[in-house]
Amino acid sequence: MQRTLAKNTIDKNSGEKVKIIGWVSARRDHGKLIFIDFIDTSGVLQVVFTPKDKNLLKIAETLRVNDVVEITGQIGERPENMLNAEMETGKIELVADNLIVLNKAETTPFELNTDGYEVNEELRLKYRYLDLKRARLQKNLKARNEAILFIRNFLAEKGFTEIETPILGKSTPEGARDFIAPTILRPKEFYALPQSPQQYKQLLMVAGFEKYFQIARCFRDEDTRGNRQPEFTQLDIEMSFVKQEDILNLTEELFTSLVKKLYPQKKITQEPWPRLTHKEAMEKYGSDKPDLRKDKNDTNELAFVWIIDFPAFEYKKTEKRWDAVHHPFTMPQVEDIKKIKEDPGKILAHQYDVVLNGEEAGGGSIRIHKPELLEAVFELLGHKKKDISEKFGHLLDAFKYGAPPHGGIAPGLDRLIMLLQNEPNIREVIAFPKTGDGRDLMMNAPSEIDKEQLEELGISINKKKK
Ligand code: AMO
Repeated sequence: MQRTLAKNTIDKNSGEKVKIIGWVSARRDHGKLIFIDFIDTSGVLQVVFTPKDKNLLKIAETLRVNDVVEITGQIGERPENMLNAEMETGKIELVADNLIVLNKAETTPFELNTDGYEVNEELRLKYRYLDLKRARLQKNLKARNEAILFIRNFLAEKGFTEIETPILGKSTPEGARDFIAPTILRPKEFYALPQSPQQYKQLLMVAGFEKYFQIARCFRDEDTRGNRQPEFTQLDIEMSFVKQEDILNLTEELFTSLVKKLYPQKKITQEPWPRLTHKEAMEKYGSDKPDLRKDKNDTNELAFVWIIDFPAFEYKKTEKRWDAVHHPFTMPQVEDIKKIKEDPGKILAHQYDVVLNGEEAGGGSIRIHKPELLEAVFELLGHKKKDISEKFGHLLDAFKYGAPPHGGIAPGLDRLIMLLQNEPNIREVIAFPKTGDGRDLMMNAPSEIDKEQLEELGISINKKKK
């Protein structure tokens, strides 16, 4: 007999025989009758065991939450006083005539039929495979999937190509520390995990892919306060022959249509999205990520705002050097390269952030596509000539072969889904997130590795350093 999913039992006729396979999510003993709430990937169905079959009732008595079961029976209509309008299958039940227990389950370390906010988070993360069973997290991950599906279809229709770029690569300066990976093939040398696919996506523009995107995993060995994770996901976008306006419009159209399709109950505070220059935002709100919601208690309000015209460079007093506000590949708003050296602090950049309800939800820029300008920026940032060619020679070389003018953006998907799902932090929309201090409590990572493994890599641990 074929398996029927719980939600599809509503299409069956009363008296029809079906087989369901899934889990016990609750058991209620009512004198001679035993009820269980049965759950599978599609939803919940009530199953009733009657005294008609004493042996069956005996096995049903032993059922516990999370036991894996295969049940056959007949679809029955519930009596009037047992109807449940809140359940999709609330008008029917399965009257069991056979039960096979496929696997028994122990008591879980916490309740799964609550929203889970009340449970200690470290415990939730240790048993994440159980925590993920709760309805709220199932909903979040399914909503995340829907959003990604929408984004893929939207961009595909506009002629974008999704391209994967390496995880084992070379460091890209995005302002954080790199995670590094040694290799047995080349002792003493290291890959760096990408802080973002920034350089690769620009090289794809040189390669002639005019519209690129990727649902890209990024890695940053940084402080995880605020909605930051050591690894997170960006919707990474890059386009050739575009102006800042084109990228802002595309992003705005994408997210506005996503909200309208998938979150019709939500209201966007202002359309088209307002724009503030960095200077205006700082003067008016004292922040480059102002929360422009009209009613901060309204969970269905989405206040998108563009922050544009960021300064290109900032002076780092402690290090006594200039640094890029975004990254060094950002196009300064100057026609004359010489001006860069005269008064770097005054130069604005073709750089923009999208802010949503006070969170930085994405950032991007028009890039420098001329090798001489890029070199001038690297020099301003204090890189020596040799250093520039070692670290960025590939990019400078590539730009000599007809690099098109290009630009892009990278919205942070975790933050976006968090806000759309009304969650208080990004861990609630990531399947296996890390703790605030970067640990995976379920797998126990990071962890020490075998001495042999270290030896093979030619790495020794400095025991004194904690
Ligand atoms: P940026 O560094 O601004 O730009 O990152 C883009 C967006 O990614 C999200 N984000 C994070 N989300 C979770 N955890 C983190 N640790 C984290 N860090 C960043 C934010 C942020 O706005 N390559 C450029 C983009 C470009 O120029 O196209 C970049 O990575 O929502």
